[in-house]
Amino acid sequence: MSEEAALAAAHARIEDYRSRISSLDDNARDLIFRESRNHNWWQEKDVSDAQLREIYDLVKFAPTSANTQPMRITFLRSQEAKERLAPALMGPNVEKTMKAPVVAILGYDNTFWKDFPRFYPIRPEMAERHKENPDVAESFSFQQATLQGAYFILAVRAVGLDSGAMGGFDVGKVNEEFFKDSSVKANFLCNIGYGALEGIKGPRLNRYDFDEVCSII
Ligand SMILES: Cc1cc2nc3c(=O)[nH]c(=O)nc-3n(C[C@H](O)[C@H](O)[C@H](O)COP(=O)(O)O)c2cc1C
Repeated sequence: MSEEAALAAAHARIEDYRSRISSLDDNARDLIFRESRNHNWWQEKDVSDAQLREIYDLVKFAPTSANTQPMRITFLRSQEAKERLAPALMGPNVEKTMKAPVVAILGYDNTFWKDFPRFYPIRPEMAERHKENPDVAESFSFQQATLQGAYFILAVRAVGLDSGAMGGFDVGKVNEEFFKDSSVKANFLCNIGYGALEGIKGPRLNRYDFDEVCSII
């Protein structure tokens, strides 16, 4: 396909989806934001590999700077895999993680820049800045992968599952156990399953109102 035809096709796709949907309805907003909770206990109901792929196949389309996509996900399903994670978890996170159908280690790859030609062919030279400055690459990778981690939580909800995000763990231990001699490092963890109500110990906690934290200037 010529460049011109590819651009016309891209514009047509945008026009097509906008003609089908203009915004999420109230139910979708409740599912993803207003009523969904961080879950701490799980129904005995499996999560399939197909569902994990379904989650990723949404997440991958959410934007990252220069389309870098530095997030790397390691899904732990087997008991053995989860037991390798257990020593790194803070006390209150152990049991719920062992009981979760799947635990995702959301990591970030500091060598994401190697794929600039593939994912940002319009400016492949941007890779050089990261290649030559590992500190810049690391903070960029962490920032962009954290964004992707947030998208991940929303995608879990979008496919009808529940998530339990966790920062309460020893990052060094996880890196040593799962990412030794690798350019990937752990960011945060996310249990995935069908949440059980007994894990919800109280009502929704307060959130800031718009006027407290936002300004329009
Ligand atoms: C990145 C991240 C890390 C979190 N770490 C933990 C954790 O280690 N342990 C835990 O019990 N909850 C953890 N949480 C859950 C939050 O405490 C919870 O989402 C917040 O209190 C709001 O609760 P709600 O989503 O049910 O309204 C984490 C949430 C996020 C997004």
